Amino acid sequence: MQISPFEIERFYDRWEFTAELMLSSSDCESRPLAELLALEPGSEARLRSLHLGYTEVAGSPELLEAIASGYERARPADVLSLAAAEEGIFLAYHALLGPGDHAIVETPCYGSALEVARSTGARVDVWPRSYAQRWEHDLDALASLLRADTSFIYLNSPHNPTGMQMTRAAFDAVIELARERGIVVLSDEVYRGLEHDPADRLPAACDVYERAISLGTVSKAHGLPGLRIGWLACRDPQLLRRVRELKLYTTICSSAPSELLVALALRHAEEIVERNRALVLANLPLLDELIERRGELLQWQRPTAGPIGFARVAGIDDVHAWCERIAGEAGVLLLPGTVYGEPGHVRLGFGRANLAEAIARLDGYLG
Ligand SMILES: Cc1ncc(COP(=O)(O)O)c(C=O)c1O
Repeated sequence: MQISPFEIERFYDRWEFTAELMLSSSDCESRPLAELLALEPGSEARLRSLHLGYTEVAGSPELLEAIASGYERARPADVLSLAAAEEGIFLAYHALLGPGDHAIVETPCYGSALEVARSTGARVDVWPRSYAQRWEHDLDALASLLRADTSFIYLNSPHNPTGMQMTRAAFDAVIELARERGIVVLSDEVYRGLEHDPADRLPAACDVYERAISLGTVSKAHGLPGLRIGWLACRDPQLLRRVRELKLYTTICSSAPSELLVALALRHAEEIVERNRALVLANLPLLDELIERRGELLQWQRPTAGPIGFARVAGIDDVHAWCERIAGEAGVLLLPGTVYGEPGHVRLGFGRANLAEAIARLDGYLG
């Protein structure tokens, strides 16, 4: 397998645990294990007495039940639990795509969504969105990319990195276009639940189209990335079976303690996600102020969903080097748009509790 470096994760690998203050993170504020265990009486005793054997390949029945309860139509048998969403991207592409296939990937995107697709040997075209077009989805452009052998489309909403929610009309149009041709849609919904206005929430793709695969995780809205559990949900048993077959070559099954803890968290998902959504809503005005103060340097389309946004940077020649200088000298971590192939941008994150401190430090550094 030939695969290009994963630039986003490379950058975080270099800086995430050396920079002191996060101003670009896509995961919301996490919580200590004790807080999770306090959600249900008896859960600490359950965790302590848990046997650390292998678990079911698809996930423990308790976990599958908890995941399926987040969908309208998908049932526990339609869910495959995974070691985080990243495994889902890898498995879905490699199980369902190969040489001779054609895939379309919405960009800019989380790097693996594009690079893993390319690594399958399939022909991959990008469906680009741009700041100049307010990051809107150009459906004519998508239609012009379709070929007789197009078998796969990757979508992501709420979106990394722009924080823009796809409109319901655009979502419906893409699903319709896929349905007419039997195209598989991998719908990356890892930020679902963090729509700034809950009325903007889209249906889960797996609930509206049988050949859609919804990708979920507890890493983002729930703020539990350290548990490393994600999942795929799909009502086409043959598609899900092909992915499950490949999982036998990656992780086989997930971590038993994590499965227990994620099932527990998902039974209280509303409360957990709502706390982070409230934090995102309280933090966003702080970034509005920063962008207003620094209008000559930063401009953006204000995000509508999720904990991140993508600002255009003016007057800085090398945004990558600029972000590294800020990380090294001020201890504040921004994510340069170069890692998305968008060199004139920077990703800002606002799902963390100490955002005001990170902004004040950045302001002080910029002078
Ligand atoms: C759009 C998108 N998909 C998938 C992932 C992977 O999530 P996980 O940490 O659960 O593997 C991320 C993480 O940043 C993401 O932003």
